[in-house]
Amino acid sequence: MLPSSLIESYSPPDFITIPKYEQEAQIADAGVERSDIQRENTKDFTEVLEELRSTRQVSKKELALRANLSSGYISLLTSGARKAPSEETVAALADALSLDINDRLRLFEAAGFPSHYASLNFRTGNVKADWGEAPNVQVFYGRKKQLEELEKWIVRDHCQLVSVLGMGGIGKTMLAAKLAETIQNTFEYVFWRSLQHAPSVQSILKEYIQLFSYQPHNNLPDDVDELISILIEYLREHRCLIVLDNFESILEAGTTAGHYRPGFEGYGQLLQRIGEVKHKSCLLLTSREKLREIPRLEGKRLPVRSMHLIGVEIAEAEEILKDENLQGTDETWERFVKLYGGNPLALKLACEPIQDRD
Ligand SMILES: Nc1ncnc2c1ncn2[C@@H]1O[C@H](COP(=O)(O)OP(=O)(O)O)[C@@H](O)[C@H]1O
Ligand SMILES: [Mg+2]
Repeated sequence: MLPSSLIESYSPPDFITIPKYEQEAQIADAGVERSDIQRENTKDFTEVLEELRSTRQVSKKELALRANLSSGYISLLTSGARKAPSEETVAALADALSLDINDRLRLFEAAGFPSHYASLNFRTGNVKADWGEAPNVQVFYGRKKQLEELEKWIVRDHCQLVSVLGMGGIGKTMLAAKLAETIQNTFEYVFWRSLQHAPSVQSILKEYIQLFSYQPHNNLPDDVDELISILIEYLREHRCLIVLDNFESILEAGTTAGHYRPGFEGYGQLLQRIGEVKHKSCLLLTSREKLREIPRLEGKRLPVRSMHLIGVEIAEAEEILKDENLQGTDETWERFVKLYGGNPLALKLACEPIQDRD
């Protein structure tokens, strides 16, 4: 049981206190039901299929052959008599038309599927990945809306710089890892690094460049600007997903303006250039602290966006805590989850003393 005495006596540890800017963002976010997720989903399946088929000049007969579907069934789809084909059919049609990831997304969305269906079975070929310290996301629950939104930003809208912000323990690293796993097939390279132990920007840049070019470290310049320029060339040529987790580690603690610790200013230059210069890759970062560069670069139409991650919902929390064998009425659960602000780490920590009491 969830003892009410524990719930009432709780005071949050420091790392989960909510910075003021975040409280404001949460209040602002609460009113926005992320309606733009559904935008553009206005064309129906037949229309989209026919448009994609005609631009590629694939006859119905040829499409049937390539997708291993009967001509009769293709006619039903192209005439609009059948508008809700199965996931397998949509995937077969997308493969048969050799759709790139954007058109694939459109086709899946027009058939009424969430966008991640499009990337899950998409193959760009061989993804070269270095997952570094990325956590295992086999046990991951909920966050469907956030995953979908981030995926659209990165896969469909080609955002070049995306940040996931929020207090410690709220689930930024898990969300970024799940997202990277889901969309990895839409990239040629995936590269995950945590900044927790504050590596120099030069060492991180050299590692990236090595991954792309197999150039040994000692042939590379030490100048940050030059290294960034070399990296950007690769980001233009190849579609890469770079994840920088724990970005707050290289920022001065306690300043909301996102000042860099002395010697780490090069990370600011990196963000600035990745956000500004046109290329086909994405830098995804997670941070407890807001960043100075982002608001300047950010906009609905620009390829720079950030998401303020707030606590999980009650049903998601129940799932995350499923293995803890807690029982309680709906009302107790609600109070428990609300009290901890839906912070998964805080909820998990809170379960330890609860279980010790049994
Ligand atoms: N969606 C999720 N599903 C399952 N567990 C989660 C989820 N989000 C967070 N957690 C749990 O909460 C802990 C903290 O999450 P984490 O992503 O490390 O937070 P942050 O990076 O924001 O500090 C994780 O170790 C994990 O146990
Ligand atoms: Mg983290």
